Amino acid sequence: MVKDDLEQVLLTETSSHLTPWKELNFLDCIASNYWNYVLVDCISPYALLGHCVVMPGFEEVHLLNITIHQDYRRLGIAKKALQAIEQTCVERNFERILLEVRQSNLEAFSLYQAVGFEQIGTRKGYYQLPMTHLRNAREDAIVMQKSLKTEINHP
Ligand SMILES: CC(C)(COP(=O)(O)OP(=O)(O)OC[C@H]1O[C@@H](n2cnc3c(N)ncnc32)[C@H](O)[C@@H]1OP(=O)(O)O)[C@@H](O)C(=O)NCCC(=O)NCCS
Repeated sequence: MVKDDLEQVLLTETSSHLTPWKELNFLDCIASNYWNYVLVDCISPYALLGHCVVMPGFEEVHLLNITIHQDYRRLGIAKKALQAIEQTCVERNFERILLEVRQSNLEAFSLYQAVGFEQIGTRKGYYQLPMTHLRNAREDAIVMQKSLKTEINHP
């Protein structure tokens, strides 16, 4: 992802999330050299199918954003993107991938379960809820992890 992608990225982002990221959030991630991806179709690379942002840490990486454009959902694109990110993590010796997901986001929860993430906890009131009639309305996050360490079973 580069700055020139942001117009399209923001269209997908804004129509996909309850509290979408703003341009500044993406600019910060680009400036911080996170792993910032746009997903494209190799045959017609001008349409952006989606985007994702991964923050590398010490032993773990944190998946901060994965969003697929409405027209391209349920085609296995997010699954493929997560598998590619996992491959990169393994090559760079990261031990696990962490993420948070809104408790109400059953689509994303199903996706993460389908690629082998497990729930390891919750964060109370982690997400804002965009309800103008309810001040400070919050929603819990489910914390999920995928361990990338190969278990060695000694006899
Ligand atoms: C969640 C999201 C990223 C999934 O992207 P996608 O490319 O459509 O997902 P995939 O096609 O790779 O789905 C892989 C698997 O995830 C699960 N899944 C994905 N979308 C699902 C849905 N709407 N309902 C139930 N399960 C779903 C299924 O197990 C699916 O496998 P299947 O299609 O063989 O049944 C997409 O719906 C999205 O961008 N949502 C809005 C943004 C968002 O919520 N991002 C995650 C924030 S934590």
